[in-house]
Amino acid sequence: IDRYCVFGHPVAHSRSPIIHAAFAEQTGEAIDYTAIEAPLDDFAGAWRAFVAEGGRGANVTVPFKEEAFRLCDTLSRRAQRARAVNTLILGGNGETYGDTTDGVGLVRDLVDHGVALEGARILVLGAGGAVRGVLEPLLATRPASLFVANRTAEKAAELAEDFTDLGDIAGGGFDAVAGPFDVVINGTSASLAGDLPPLPEDLFAAGATAYDMMYGAEPTVFLQWAAERGARCRDGLGMLVEQAAESFFQWRGKRPDTAPVRELLRRSLS
Ligand code: ATR
Repeated sequence: IDRYCVFGHPVAHSRSPIIHAAFAEQTGEAIDYTAIEAPLDDFAGAWRAFVAEGGRGANVTVPFKEEAFRLCDTLSRRAQRARAVNTLILGGNGETYGDTTDGVGLVRDLVDHGVALEGARILVLGAGGAVRGVLEPLLATRPASLFVANRTAEKAAELAEDFTDLGDIAGGGFDAVAGPFDVVINGTSASLAGDLPPLPEDLFAAGATAYDMMYGAEPTVFLQWAAERGARCRDGLGMLVEQAAESFFQWRGKRPDTAPVRELLRRSLS
């Protein structure tokens, strides 16, 4: 039986084992998928040990995505851009290939739910690793414009600079946010602390979508704020399931149906 896992620290909270078990059952793939807490000082050693025990691939979550990026022998183009890896694949020659599926997961979740990205005015909040990981797939949908806003303005400007060859993208502080926007994506970790970035009242265009990469049993403060201002709201649970589906596809060559798995997870939250 082929072995896969998710590496994190901590990792007990990870929903990936539930998701991949559901995918495996649905597609008839015989895989074993577990959660492994890698030591903070030796992620590479944990991956090597897993491979020695028959591991064929892995997902990587906080705080190892950059370390996973560094240990790969070859990388997908989107992982090179993201400078992070959430999917490790053991090649036939024993080499480690790295990919990042977070961005395609986000785009697929939006598109599957009828959110038009081509020609849209997009605002992304935050300029950390989570945001860097989604910019290339977002720009590939050919939005009219994409503005990255961050508490630390220079970080957003520098991040945007790395992607200017891919489309109309710029970055700055929250005070530089000038709406209206069709799609607003919160990629800050502010939701974790129950914080809301300072945003103008007229942020949303008519029919706009607000998306939070975080998810939970209750809507985040950002989504509550957005709902009060008339935006259509989605949380990051769909992105979580879609990034997993793309990893599963990379490993097994089969695309699971994500809708029932999303429902399964949603029920497990409440
Ligand atoms: P991640 O991997 O989740 O992206 P990160 O790289 O540490 O984590 O980035 C966290 C992001 O959330 C950053 O954009 C951070 O803003 P700064 O660059 O100014 O630090 C943002 N962030 C975290 N807490 C926040 C808060 N309370 N209000 C606004 N932005 C916040």
